[in-house]
Amino acid sequence: MNGEAILFFTESRLKLTTHIHPIFDQMVSRTEREAFFGQKSKVIWMTGLSGSGKSTIGKELERRFLEMRLFAQMLDGDNVRSGINNNLGFSLEDRVENIRRIAEVSKLYINSGIIVICTFISPTEAIRAFAKSIIGVDDFVEIFVDAPLSVCEERDVKGLYKKARAGEIKDFTGIDSPFEAPTQPAITVNTSEQSLEDAVQQILNFMLPIVKR
Ligand code: ADX
Repeated sequence: MNGEAILFFTESRLKLTTHIHPIFDQMVSRTEREAFFGQKSKVIWMTGLSGSGKSTIGKELERRFLEMRLFAQMLDGDNVRSGINNNLGFSLEDRVENIRRIAEVSKLYINSGIIVICTFISPTEAIRAFAKSIIGVDDFVEIFVDAPLSVCEERDVKGLYKKARAGEIKDFTGIDSPFEAPTQPAITVNTSEQSLEDAVQQILNFMLPIVKR
């Protein structure tokens, strides 16, 4: 699905939002909530292959933020897909809907003053551009968690690559479903060359001046 197809797919559903009257402007503002937490909210959007290390980095980041009294919430692929998105699979259409819902949830969180850590494969430029358009350019920080497919496959933490190679899982990212590396991420961490501590520190060095008040 390219950008145009995504727009068509989502806009064709927009007619469902007539007779809806949001009251966001009457609620406690984002600025007030950010002041309450003593931070600025952003979405840290990690993209990368399954097994590249997104969740591992995300968990550590979330903890480090908390230790610094910064309130962060991680949204992770397997977690979200076991709950709010448990009716979605891995066709490109379902991945778009997966990311659309996650981007909307992230937006709710940033309006609550919370730092959001998203760890989703989000495999194509168009899907990530779509997430960015929902969240807003200024609040979306894209991080490429880079590791060669061969390394992710070697790690095979969940045993899924083996199953995909055996044909037991269809549409597996990197095997028979595409992954496009981001062209202009704010940061790239390379987990086949860097330690976890290094990668987390690199992200913190970039993010702390942005999220600290
Ligand atoms: S995304 O492509 O829609 O962004 P998401 O990050 O939510 O994917 O989910 C990826 C996780 O789902 C993987 O880490 C893996 O554990 C699991 N998974 C199961 N089937 C697939 C598949 N066909 N392709 C990729 N990941 C899969």
